[in-house]
Amino acid sequence: MGVDVGGTKVAAGVVDEHGRIVGSVRRPTPGHEPALVADTIAEVVGELLARHAVGLEAPIGIGAAGWLDRDGARVMFAPNLAWRDEPLRDIISDRLGRPVIVDNDANTMAWAEYRFGAGRGCSELVCVTVGTGIGSGLVLDGKVRHGAFGVGAEFGHMQVVPAGLPCGCGGQGCWEQYASGRALVRHAREIVGGSSAAGRRLLELAGGDLERLTGPDVTTAAREGDPAAVKCFEEVGYWLGQGLASLTAVLDPARFVIGGGVSDAGELLLGPARAQFRAALPGRGHRPEAEIVLAHLGPDAGFVGAADLARTIKLGRA
Ligand code: BGC
Ligand code: NA
Ligand code: ZN
Repeated sequence: MGVDVGGTKVAAGVVDEHGRIVGSVRRPTPGHEPALVADTIAEVVGELLARHAVGLEAPIGIGAAGWLDRDGARVMFAPNLAWRDEPLRDIISDRLGRPVIVDNDANTMAWAEYRFGAGRGCSELVCVTVGTGIGSGLVLDGKVRHGAFGVGAEFGHMQVVPAGLPCGCGGQGCWEQYASGRALVRHAREIVGGSSAAGRRLLELAGGDLERLTGPDVTTAAREGDPAAVKCFEEVGYWLGQGLASLTAVLDPARFVIGGGVSDAGELLLGPARAQFRAALPGRGHRPEAEIVLAHLGPDAGFVGAADLARTIKLGRA
């Protein structure tokens, strides 16, 4: 069983050894209070256990939107949630009376895509989830890489704009402030606020209330061909491609797998991302280029990967 605990939703599922989902549950993240988040994790797991036979020994995998310490016991910090040195693993394990393993949500997503999705068979793989913020995971030689202290591959917090927008991590100008759902909505609100003609469709989709405009509204409008919404994706795609080019200087991966809610827009996001990736790639024309592809497992990737990591670790294969 796997659970994905993100900034906006908690999703859990029972997953077989081929990555197939046997059953799943989804809830909004209940505010950001750690105790409420723990209650919700226990609830979704309880619901699944009531419906599916899961052996008592089977570890439950959690992908959490935060920075885990080296052994996955504590969430040291979370830019978009309230965890601060939270002993999540033992809290959940004590409550459920089962073994629990915890990794970063984007790491579990990367693992799922590597095992069962768009990263299959690719041994130098970077996954980027473009959601509320940016999550990322690095799989090298068939292993999720964590760095020395557990917090490696936090690409969303590399600086792309000197002295840029403030970030939940305490930094300024982080990639996740420019290539994320939050950035998408920010651009859309600017357009709607600036000129009533250009932003008409966006405003309509938000029910006339700018504050209620969401990322999926922008995707809907862009799919219809609304120029303002398409422009928002061009902007976010530009920054996505820019960041991937910089990452290539460091990692030279074979493939980038792009997931997360914003990637539901498909080529509307990836088109501009590829264009800017090519424009910014160091040494372009003199080197092989990584592919940039869409994730295959959609919003389930986080819990699928968490479940499979837990199984893999239990079998001593990770
Ligand atoms: C956090 C990551 C997390 C990502 C997506 C980022 O702000 O730093 O740890 O994976 O958001 O949830
Ligand atoms: Na990560
Ligand atoms: Zn940051």
